Amino acid sequence: MTDDALRTPSGMTSLWYGGDYNPEQWPRDVWDDDMRLMRRAGVTVATIGVFSWARLEPRDGEYDFAWLDDLMDLLHANGVRADLATATASPPKWLVDKHPEILPVTADGTVLSFGGRQHYRPSSAAYRAHATRLVRALAERYGTHPALEAWHVGNEYGCHVSRDYSDESAVGFRVWLRERYGDIESLNAAWGTAFWSQRYTEFAQVDPPRVTPAGTNPTQTLDFDRYSSDELRACLRAEIAVLREVTPGIPITTNFMGFFKNIDYWTWADDLDFISDDLYPDPEDPESPMLAAMARDLMRSLGGGRPWILMEQATSAVNWREFNAPKPAGMHRLLSLQSIARGADGIMQFQWRASQAGSEKFHAAMVPHAGEDSRIFRETEALGAELASLADIRGERCEARVAMVVDWPSWWALEQASMPSRLSYLEQLIRWYRALWRRGVLVDMVAATGDLGGYDVVIAAGAISLEDAAVENLAGVPARGGQLVVGYQTAVLDEQAHARLGGYLGSLQEPLGVRVEELWPLRTGSIAGLAEGPVSEWGELVRVRDAQVLATFVGSDDLDGQPAITRKAHGDGAAFYVATAPERIGAVVERVLADAGVPWTALPEGVEVVTRGDRTFVLNHAPASCTVTVGDRDVHVGPRDVMVLRG
Ligand code: GLA
Repeated sequence: MTDDALRTPSGMTSLWYGGDYNPEQWPRDVWDDDMRLMRRAGVTVATIGVFSWARLEPRDGEYDFAWLDDLMDLLHANGVRADLATATASPPKWLVDKHPEILPVTADGTVLSFGGRQHYRPSSAAYRAHATRLVRALAERYGTHPALEAWHVGNEYGCHVSRDYSDESAVGFRVWLRERYGDIESLNAAWGTAFWSQRYTEFAQVDPPRVTPAGTNPTQTLDFDRYSSDELRACLRAEIAVLREVTPGIPITTNFMGFFKNIDYWTWADDLDFISDDLYPDPEDPESPMLAAMARDLMRSLGGGRPWILMEQATSAVNWREFNAPKPAGMHRLLSLQSIARGADGIMQFQWRASQAGSEKFHAAMVPHAGEDSRIFRETEALGAELASLADIRGERCEARVAMVVDWPSWWALEQASMPSRLSYLEQLIRWYRALWRRGVLVDMVAATGDLGGYDVVIAAGAISLEDAAVENLAGVPARGGQLVVGYQTAVLDEQAHARLGGYLGSLQEPLGVRVEELWPLRTGSIAGLAEGPVSEWGELVRVRDAQVLATFVGSDDLDGQPAITRKAHGDGAAFYVATAPERIGAVVERVLADAGVPWTALPEGVEVVTRGDRTFVLNHAPASCTVTVGDRDVHVGPRDVMVLRG
């Protein structure tokens, strides 16, 4: 265990292993059976109380803690630590009836009703007041309970409601805008309201970007995205403030949702003591292992490289896809160990015991409907034993030499309706990540204004809406000897979503040695030179000032013979510009890695090799066995199996 391991008053030394535990859905005698099975499975932590508000506070201000007292004591007696939720994810009916104004409103004015979950508008004063009152009561009652391991604030913030267009949200939006712009003329300038007669004379006139007859103002929309992310964070912070006051020694987390578009997780991470994440890779999608790896790398990076907790995953099928494929034998273990390899100090699932009623009764659990005599429970036990044997990995770090920029405002801006072509921001990231993953190269994710200093290679793709400081941050990479790779639609706009004039790219023009004269969306095309072959989605008329042309477009009308990929050397460093999506993007990646001196291996399909601390994990996601060379060893790994090498 290193100094980075999560420290709690309990001094826990094992990895987290367990899941969401909702015993209030079951008669009391089932709880005893749960304890027996948890001990068998090696469960160390249970997340409790996530959806318990109505049970804990059955009437306004009237608490019923008896059952939770019993549960906390029971967990403690059985050696299971409590990741205690603040229970605020789903307000009770009495609160909705008393304050119907807490219900969220969609862009077209529809009010969302009680009967599902997360039916609150983040800006609601009534919601926040009642939520923090409950949090205080919980913190005062359980803050010194010996079972308490961590606070689990809310649950999957924004999962169902992350944009609320109510009048109360409008009021909050205006306050947020006044803080950002100071006066209305600055807002008019930022939002470009000279266009289409959208000028405002006072903040009171400004609304959320509700449904409009034609193209809603892009900067208004982008600011509303920023505001909405901040507004949800204000809910989180309100609860955290109470917890820090009442129980200062207890670590705090909230469960993220991987690459979730609607919250800028960079701005949330510092509020938490450790990052945790929920991830449900689709067992049917052959790309799931790669996509899961990318999300796990994001979580590690959000915590600055410190260990994180996989807070939820399914032991087998979920129930919320169109088609819910089960996980074949071995897959659950593989995806669990993938998290450990990529920096997690715990593996939790949704949920412990499969519900008998409610809309998640067909969601897999650690104890399925069939009970303990089942494939899933046997796998649950086996995984618990394996994680126990890996406990001393706690706190170990992964070292990445390559970083990819993840920028939420760019994600929001790139996918607005008024753009030159419908591009997916995640797809931009995935293309580069996939090529690196297949070559066994570990990647950190970084914020555009984050510290890029430790990386040999930095990739920014589709980072369209960047502030000047971020553009300069990127421009500094080749200057200090690193390799900077800039993919199309980066720094085309500033942070107000205004076009950067004179060839886009802002202060990246100089290090790249190019300017972009015209954007040229391409359905398909091809290039000659590096990464020779088909390209898709995008082209540009790139004018080279002082860069080497590595590849040119072939055909595609006016693009014929024009630069598609360029490189400008800067001493040991270089800046690459990639103006299209080459099918053979791996050739570009190999060139960049070679220039950076970063080693890579061509891995068999579906295989990943990841080093954390002194352990190397060889994970074979493929249904056939494989042999991989790791260092000077040939390692044979069976189908859907893992080898953990030490030293
Ligand atoms: C999310 C929620 C859980 C549960 C699972 C089902 O992760 O946090 O409460 O609904 O989805 O997959």
